[in-house]
Amino acid sequence: MKIQIINGPNLNLLGTREPSIYGSRSFAELLEELRSRYAQVEIDYYQNNSEGAIVDKLQEVGFDYDGVILNAGAYTHTSVAIADAISAIRTPVVEVHISNVYGREAFRHHSYLAKNCKGVICGFGTDSYRLAIESFLNQ
Ligand code: DQA
Repeated sequence: MKIQIINGPNLNLLGTREPSIYGSRSFAELLEELRSRYAQVEIDYYQNNSEGAIVDKLQEVGFDYDGVILNAGAYTHTSVAIADAISAIRTPVVEVHISNVYGREAFRHHSYLAKNCKGVICGFGTDSYRLAIESFLNQ
């Protein structure tokens, strides 16, 4: 099984960015843990701060991989282009968020992406990514 994780804007700063919300662990550490725990899964990782680059990556992997785990960061709440890209590809996408967006500002309560995704996992800290992997393994 081949899974692509895509992280959007500011998620390159995980570990230092608002640790009370996003935790103090870097994504590199988490990725190492996930790769050793799920050795049977090929887990590829991509991060970009630009909306178009995320659309490009979805198009690139979206006909080949078994699953995409997408944390589009703030673009979740703004991007019709990323929503359209999710609809355009064949690979199922699981939307993830580290924080519980429903317990935060009202503008984070709406996702343009969710209705085009297989499901949404949010609020479990960085464990949200592991739960998304489990969702693909259990299908
Ligand atoms: C986030 C939640 C978004 O609202 C925010 O803009 C992020 C991170 C999360 O993982 O909790 O950048 O997607």
